[in-house]
Amino acid sequence: MTFWSLVLSLSLISSHVLALENEPRKGIHLPLVRREVRREGLHKRAGNASIGIGDFVDVTYNVLVQVGEVETPLVLDTGSADLWVISDTCIGNCSSSVPLYPQTTFSPSGLTVQLLYGDSRTGTHATGPIGKDAAGIAGLSLQDQYLAAIVDTNTTVLETGSAGILGLGFPAISVVWRQLIQAQLSGVPTKKGKRVHMDLDYHRPAFPSFDFMFSSVPPQAHAKRQNATALSTPEFIDSFATLGPLFSRMISQHELAQPMFATTLQRDSIDIGGNVGQLSIGELPSGIASESLTWVPLRAYSVAEHGLPPPTDAPNEVYPLVWEIAIDDVYFDGAKLARSALSAPTITLSALVDTGNSLIRGPQDVIASIMDSLGGETFDCSVPHNLTFLIGGKSFPIDPRDFIHQTTSESNEPACSANLAVTDPPSADGFLYSWSLGDPFLKSVLAAFYYGNLTRPSQDPPRIGLMSTVPSDGGERLKQAISAAEAVNAPLAATSHAAPSGTYAASATGVGGVPQATSVSNTNTDASANAARGTHGIVSASLSLALCGLVTALALL
Ligand SMILES: *[C@@H]1O[C@H](CO)[C@@H](O)[C@H](O)[C@H]1NC(C)=O
Ligand SMILES: *[C@@H]1O[C@H](CO)[C@@H](O)[C@H](O)[C@H]1NC(C)=O
Ligand SMILES: *[C@@H]1O[C@H](CO)[C@@H](O)[C@H](O)[C@H]1NC(C)=O
Ligand SMILES: *[C@@H]1O[C@H](CO)[C@@H](O)[C@H](O)[C@H]1NC(C)=O
Ligand SMILES: *[C@@H]1O[C@H](CO)[C@@H](O)[C@H](O)[C@H]1NC(C)=O
Ligand SMILES: *[C@@H]1O[C@H](CO)[C@@H](O)[C@H](O)[C@H]1NC(C)=O
Repeated sequence: MTFWSLVLSLSLISSHVLALENEPRKGIHLPLVRREVRREGLHKRAGNASIGIGDFVDVTYNVLVQVGEVETPLVLDTGSADLWVISDTCIGNCSSSVPLYPQTTFSPSGLTVQLLYGDSRTGTHATGPIGKDAAGIAGLSLQDQYLAAIVDTNTTVLETGSAGILGLGFPAISVVWRQLIQAQLSGVPTKKGKRVHMDLDYHRPAFPSFDFMFSSVPPQAHAKRQNATALSTPEFIDSFATLGPLFSRMISQHELAQPMFATTLQRDSIDIGGNVGQLSIGELPSGIASESLTWVPLRAYSVAEHGLPPPTDAPNEVYPLVWEIAIDDVYFDGAKLARSALSAPTITLSALVDTGNSLIRGPQDVIASIMDSLGGETFDCSVPHNLTFLIGGKSFPIDPRDFIHQTTSESNEPACSANLAVTDPPSADGFLYSWSLGDPFLKSVLAAFYYGNLTRPSQDPPRIGLMSTVPSDGGERLKQAISAAEAVNAPLAATSHAAPSGTYAASATGVGGVPQATSVSNTNTDASANAARGTHGIVSASLSLALCGLVTALALL
């Protein structure tokens, strides 16, 4: 995600938790029958591992992560690059259904991080000490992983059944990495005796500044400031292996068979089922060949585009900052959408691929034109719509079931709204993407995130591989789910479930051989709702309320 995305959505959910406290429960929980393969059966060899993904009503997806002596669910986030977990010494209301971090084996660095998320209207913070501890996932683990032990936060992470965030982005955008490096530099006065500027104020979308790398070089180099290749030392890049994010360090320590991970996200609302929720680490899910994916290179940011300066011993390297890929065009219900007029035509069209974003976010004028085609904010649920991204010459539709969420029309009738929101246009001195493809997109594909060679990207370029998993009858299945709900006069099904310690047993394979979740017959009875609450730890009363509020909350975005 951009942290903003998550927090914006979640803040709205929480406000509706409060608003709905006195209203009767409307959400229906269905038991999600997924057999979990316990640890013994966990798919793990040297360099390969996989683990099941939990979710909170399709808004956040989480995985169990070992941090020191605790194993706890963290939000799976390709939009950020830091590992943070809420400490059990946290202040304020930290009551939670998931274990917090006891800090018993935490080795503090003496630095404190303050992560500020959101825009000026919706800002939230997460603050706490930076330090080292052992960290791991799916049986792969590393000592001395830097992370933030959050002691004070007003984010709503806990309310969605997670204890923090696992950032899977590149080291260049890791706040913890930059802060550690800057602190090391600031200990060594420059020749002018000036301390390096410490930038602690991180606002959305947290475009990183690498100015400190320029100011840290000896004064004589300042004369050559135009020649950016001369201004960064190899140590900055080499520190990815020691001070960098968990996955970057696993790669530099050759822990992974391939420098990659892949996701399939489950659908837990509207028509429960879809892909099996799984994070595959070091390889593609078994049975999937690399050639069956469409691979596209990541955007790299040159120094002129305010990217990471290359080291002096590899002056031609340009580095990726985020999981950002080119998109050829966008189609809605078969018609090609005009490009946004809000950003310079010289900025090529691209998208952030973001597991931590619950929606599809795009340029304000393009989103408005889709809303016009839909005839307004709310529309008839039973009419399927196709939002399709053309990427690498191939069509990647969003399953019509993932394009919508249920809400009520102005006249209080059941209706649907699009899972769309507006995001800021790209600018020449920030991130260059115009779209953020969040969970609705990621439920419709198998997505592989290939880091390549982090220190020398030219040697093994970073890329994303996609394979559509949308069945040809997705629209038909939407109509069936809607008429089944209408027949019993009930809202559409939705549920949440806790992150498993193993992987799920797939019931079948779908498009392209991707493992499918067990689908559940739509009984919509109170008995099944109670069964769901009984069997799924995180579906607490407050989450049920949040679920009721969710549809309205998303409509506000
Ligand atoms: C603390 O937050 C939880 C939900 O996260 C809520 O159920 C509980 O009532 C809150 N307690 C206080 C004292 O605010
Ligand atoms: C969270 O705290 C920040 C101060 O760091 C404040 O500006 C913001 O309004 C708070 N947000 C919420 C949602 O409470
Ligand atoms: C300046 O950059 C060029 C490549 O653009 C490089 O060949 C040259 O060595 C650089 N100068 C210094 C002093 O590093
Ligand atoms: C990246 O490439 C460099 C230069 O070829 C090489 O020395 C290094 O080992 C590579 N890194 C990894 C993790 O393979
Ligand atoms: C990873 O798993 C694949 C099969 O799924 C296997 O072919 C490969 O050898 C494994 N790699 C390692 C390093 O164990
Ligand atoms: C959506 O796509 C499906 C399959 O590609 C197609 O059959 C259907 O007509 C499309 N619907 C619209 C409204 O374009």
